[in-house]
Amino acid sequence: METMINLNDLLKHEIMDLYSAEEQIIEALPGMIDKAKNPELKKALSEHLRITEEQKSRLDKIKQSFGEGEGEEEGGEKKGFFSRLFGGGGEKCKGMEGLITEGEKIMKADISPEDLDAAIIASAQKIEHYEIAGYGTARAFARQLEREDIYELLTQTLNEEYKADHMLTDLAVGKLNLKAENATAGIDADMGRSGRANRSAGRSNSSNGNSSKGANHSGKNISSKTASKSSPSQGSKSSSNGISRSGGPSNGNYSKSN
Ligand SMILES: [Fe+2]
Repeated sequence: METMINLNDLLKHEIMDLYSAEEQIIEALPGMIDKAKNPELKKALSEHLRITEEQKSRLDKIKQSFGEGEGEEEGGEKKGFFSRLFGGGGEKCKGMEGLITEGEKIMKADISPEDLDAAIIASAQKIEHYEIAGYGTARAFARQLEREDIYELLTQTLNEEYKADHMLTDLAVGKLNLKAENATAGIDADMGRSGRANRSAGRSNSSNGNSSKGANHSGKNISSKTASKSSPSQGSKSSSNGISRSGGPSNGNYSKSN
């Protein structure tokens, strides 16, 4: 029996999934910016909103490179396949929808502003990691298919996602997580900082998953090669998110750069 779905189709699927994800992020970020208390966090999220608009434009270019309407007129089984992958009802990325819904739930909870900042970072990093997985995979497909034009565009975005993820970790670990802890404990956020910073940083594998500034946070600039070899920050030591300790996610799509 002839195989209906090929790697090129899977690449298109990943691109459409990421397009929907970026659209949803553009819609969700203003609410997160509004709720964030810390000025640095607000600034980081605002900057990422601007970058996300550019990322969506890159995906527009990629979609155009596939050819107008390509895939849509194929109809039949392929169309059914894509519809099933997206859970039916169009091409909305259900994965991103779920992550955003979870984040919005906590933003409505009875929570201190400091704890909310920590929760917003947690939510933003889950979103980043979804994107890193998607862009890493799509980029590996593009490389395999010798679509260097697409590979380059996806690499630009992937590097931005890594950078955003690392920046969020830097904000969380020893800074906003500490403020959150102190706020809940009734301690002035800045008073207890020096005594607790190390302890907090040392808990990098705690349940909120923010990674340490160690192995994956050497302060290197993210280039296409370094980014492609590094794992997402929360996965550097954690096994809970399914990303290996060896420097790459289990599907290996990040580690093959050139
Ligand atoms: Fe993005």
